[in-house]
Amino acid sequence: MAKYISFCLFTLLILTGYYFYQYNEAAKTQLLSYDDEQESLGSSITIRFSHVVAENTPKGLTVRKFADLVEEKTKGQVKVEIYPNGILYSDGNEYEALQNGKVEMIAASFPKLIDTVPQWKVLDLPFIFKRESQVEAVFTGQTSKELLSMIQDPHVKGLSFWLNGFKQMTSSQNALLEPDDFQGQTFRVMPGPIIAEQFRLLKANTAVMSFNDVYQALESGQIDGQENTISNIYSKRLYKVQNHLTVSNHGYLGYAVMINQKFWDELPQEIQEKITEAMNETTEWNMKKAGQMNAEQLEEIKRTSPITIHSLTVEQQKKWLRLFRPLYQQVENEVGSDLIKQIQFPPDEER
Ligand code: LMR
Repeated sequence: MAKYISFCLFTLLILTGYYFYQYNEAAKTQLLSYDDEQESLGSSITIRFSHVVAENTPKGLTVRKFADLVEEKTKGQVKVEIYPNGILYSDGNEYEALQNGKVEMIAASFPKLIDTVPQWKVLDLPFIFKRESQVEAVFTGQTSKELLSMIQDPHVKGLSFWLNGFKQMTSSQNALLEPDDFQGQTFRVMPGPIIAEQFRLLKANTAVMSFNDVYQALESGQIDGQENTISNIYSKRLYKVQNHLTVSNHGYLGYAVMINQKFWDELPQEIQEKITEAMNETTEWNMKKAGQMNAEQLEEIKRTSPITIHSLTVEQQKKWLRLFRPLYQQVENEVGSDLIKQIQFPPDEER
């Protein structure tokens, strides 16, 4: 009998315990769904946007524009924290930081992405871009969609392309007008086989280095020259440690804007839509602003600096083109002629 009573008491104890446990869990769930503080915690999202250039550049200002638009459109639910000048990650490791979710967004220049998207070698071909209207058509129209779809990395989603400008050549040694003028000099280059090959054809040496190390390397004489857009030459004061600048427009520098895929997938759909809207408006703004900024900053360099500025004659440009022709064959063998033709004559270009 005593055994029977203790069995009943034990069972009652277990059942009561189970009942209180269930009650408590239900109460917690109910509390959470009406908890204002929890609600607002869940709604504040931060995008860390890392980049390597100064703020007074097409990329610097475009990231700022994007941040403002995102905050405005999401009514402050999404904040964009901007880390410029490579303060968080430099060109060598910003892509890896994006893959690992250490930052949510970056806008890397094409040469730094060739390991990820080998077909983008075509974008580094000298003189493949000749007109602003061609650049805009490639990076906004059907071709831009095709280029973005070439990003096969499961950790990264391509959102858009932003522009900087045409690249120019600078040197501390002499004017760079004829192909022979480059011979024996050492130039800083961004990574990527096409740019390295371009300088090899010019019989020059190359040194791959991070953008934020270039000023120091030029100043100390470790390198003689470099190629970049006017806005990068201006904002990093590279013209102050160079004697000659050739407006050669021989290459184009633009950016792929990318977001961490997992971060994107976990965003609520209406936030994704607002970010996409902000990105489209920002890209349109960037397309108007980039060319204008480079033109204004060239005038500023002319006005304030003793650097000698040269332009290529048609004859000189033809010599450069002839020299670089083998690069077209090399890229055609690797990526096919269709993509090259599509970039040279984009279907959506207004002519
Ligand atoms: C460079 O390394 O010179 C550029 O890619 C920097 C940039 O992001 O514009």
